[in-house]
Amino acid sequence: MNIGNLTFENKAFLAPMAGITHPVFRWMVREVGGAVGFTEMVSAEGIVRDFERAQKYLEPFPGEKPFAVQLFGADPGAVAAAAVISVEQGADLIDINMGCPVRKVVKAGAGAALMRDPGKLAALLRKVRAALHCPLTVKIRSGWTAGEILAPDMARIARDSGVDAIIVHPRTVAQGFSGKADWPVIERVKKAVEIPVIGNGDIRTAEDALRMMDETGCEGIMVGRGVLGNPWIFSAIRGAIGGGSAMIVPTPAEREAVVCSHLDRNIRFFGERDGIKDFYRHLSWYTKGMRGCAALRKQVLGEENHEEVRDAIHRFFALTQRDRPPEDEHPDASSG
Ligand SMILES: Cc1cc2nc3c(=O)[nH]c(=O)nc-3n(C[C@H](O)[C@H](O)[C@H](O)COP(=O)(O)O)c2cc1C
Repeated sequence: MNIGNLTFENKAFLAPMAGITHPVFRWMVREVGGAVGFTEMVSAEGIVRDFERAQKYLEPFPGEKPFAVQLFGADPGAVAAAAVISVEQGADLIDINMGCPVRKVVKAGAGAALMRDPGKLAALLRKVRAALHCPLTVKIRSGWTAGEILAPDMARIARDSGVDAIIVHPRTVAQGFSGKADWPVIERVKKAVEIPVIGNGDIRTAEDALRMMDETGCEGIMVGRGVLGNPWIFSAIRGAIGGGSAMIVPTPAEREAVVCSHLDRNIRFFGERDGIKDFYRHLSWYTKGMRGCAALRKQVLGEENHEEVRDAIHRFFALTQRDRPPEDEHPDASSG
């Protein structure tokens, strides 16, 4: 699919997730699943006011191309300036967050607050568009409440302001992250605009991805929580879209190699202590449902030594392979 002048071989994207989609995780997902990921939302004001501090959020992994950065902010001038700085740092695509429901963000007039202020929404997007040559996308929610569905109108405003594609997470602000994503809203957005639409919400398997594309007509899909512990979901989606296998189950050796590579890169990027600390959550996701995972977590919790963690992982996978028949060794690929 094309977004502006960029062509994406894979129609599936890794969703921006604060605290999760840092360079190493995007690197793992790109390598294992071939999907382009977005940075977590980065404060435009933060970039403009204190670049030194914000810079770490604009770091790509080695060779990350295209590099997609998500920004949030309320002030059109600040968001436009931050977008230009992001491009100077290597960004190839800028996404503006217009769906974050976190109170602090909304109170500041950013994220989901923009949904209720169409004039400001248009002014902000036009200002950013005028400052940028690279593709520009927006990520929106369905609306404020079930009775206040705003996504199709927002999408039209975004299109008229020069946005190249719309990403729709069809939950309302009132829903937060609970309840079901309302996929028919993605279809309504697709019918409202001709530019590409990327659907997001509740994709846990390759079949879900195909079904979303089929039911809504969206050109691309985006996966958030379904990728946690399961970067293979993107290979499965790519296979399924190409008419091939929708089920990719890594062997224990493949899983171990990915887990160890993730650990090593985390340590290279964040240092030994912080790298292991951040990795701990991912280790839990990678091994969820596997026999001995609780004991492994216990061994690694609070551990600050790279070799100790590596050894614990190696022992865990060695036992897994010795004790269990191959078909029982994998966690439910959809459990994320
Ligand atoms: C921990 C977490 C952090 C998130 N951070 C962001 C963010 O920074 N920017 C954003 O647009 N959405 C963010 N989201 C929302 C996701 O991008 C996605 O829209 C949502 O999780 C629905 O997709 P899913 O059902 O595939 O998880 C976050 C979600 C989670 C669970």
